[in-house]
Amino acid sequence: MAVELKNGICWVGAVDWSIRDFHGYETPRGTSYNNYLIMDEQVTLVDTVKHSFVSDMVGNIERLVDPAKIKNVIVNHIENDHATSLGAVMRLAPDANVYITEKGKKGIARFFDISKWNINVVKTGDTLNIGGRNLVFLETPMLHWPDSMMTYIPEDKLLISQDGFGQHIASAERFDDEYIHAHSQAELDDAVADYYANILMPFGSIIKSKLAEVQKLGLDIEMIAPDHGVIWRKFPQKIVQDYLDMADGKADLSVAIIYDTMWRGTEMMTVPLTRGIIDEGVACRVVKLRANARSIAVKEFWKARGALIGTPTLNNLMFPTVASFLAYLRGLKPKNRIVGAFGSYGWGGGGVKNVYEELGKTAVEVYEPGIEAHYRPDPDDETKAYEYGRDFAKKVKEYHGQF
Ligand code: FEO
Repeated sequence: MAVELKNGICWVGAVDWSIRDFHGYETPRGTSYNNYLIMDEQVTLVDTVKHSFVSDMVGNIERLVDPAKIKNVIVNHIENDHATSLGAVMRLAPDANVYITEKGKKGIARFFDISKWNINVVKTGDTLNIGGRNLVFLETPMLHWPDSMMTYIPEDKLLISQDGFGQHIASAERFDDEYIHAHSQAELDDAVADYYANILMPFGSIIKSKLAEVQKLGLDIEMIAPDHGVIWRKFPQKIVQDYLDMADGKADLSVAIIYDTMWRGTEMMTVPLTRGIIDEGVACRVVKLRANARSIAVKEFWKARGALIGTPTLNNLMFPTVASFLAYLRGLKPKNRIVGAFGSYGWGGGGVKNVYEELGKTAVEVYEPGIEAHYRPDPDDETKAYEYGRDFAKKVKEYHGQF
């Protein structure tokens, strides 16, 4: 069912309640594919949805207007979750004008035969008058793909922000205040952090410069409508400030312990470690990798100023799930975090050393040495782990990253 967000502008997207694996990224809350229909003199569609939800989108549009009457299609982002229904839309409205960035045009040609489409390449500052409104385009390369752009509508003070400011949430609620009422602010904040950590972490400096550019343009933004999750109608300024803070790498005064274990030796070390951290007044969250998706571990890593990575030794190396997590994390280019390691071994060791080798390939501040126990922690090892937790927490309290 279409939902009006501004007079004559409707959400016509789809809610994906069941998705849990978003191209390898865990989405425990599902997601939504948001797109928007503007009922102006020229009917204009902004973005589409994932191909498997095309009938939801077309049904929503048909309740408002004959899809053949769509005059303009704005393609803010060509990733499959937003553009794989574009072919269906163009079959329904073959004469529509498509507005897209140069990189978007090149990319979309790999998915569809665009030879008969009326394609218009746009760049930052270009405008399109659709009757009572002027759409202003703003290129946002790498947020999230090289092709990306946003569409601003000054008459409605509305920014349609594609992936930016999104969250992977499937919900009955379409707006931030509705979601907070039905769930909680903490739940929404957690979804924002999860999305940012797993998708946008590598692009902090681009986000900062792009937000500065938007501020310089003096755009009056009253509402932000992303292509995933809730629409920011009540708290648009808060989500912009949250993005500025996250782009700066700001984090909670807390430690994330992310570990895996074979015969529980490494796992048993987490107990005195957490006690030491908490006794220093620092919060601590623990994530076992075999019990949680990598993306959950990355979210907890991102939210905390410090992290301890725990691994048993397997064949002189770290445990495979720990290696997988660190490979994923490395691709996200983490920085402004302090990270140590701990673990257990039976024969010759090597797991903790291997963790440090991987951490050394990132820009995090490495806290050395790590701490190890032979087979399983005895009382002496537990005392050492407790003290290690305290020392690490003290360091975390002093650490403020490269801000
Ligand atoms: Fe939601 Fe980059 O796609």
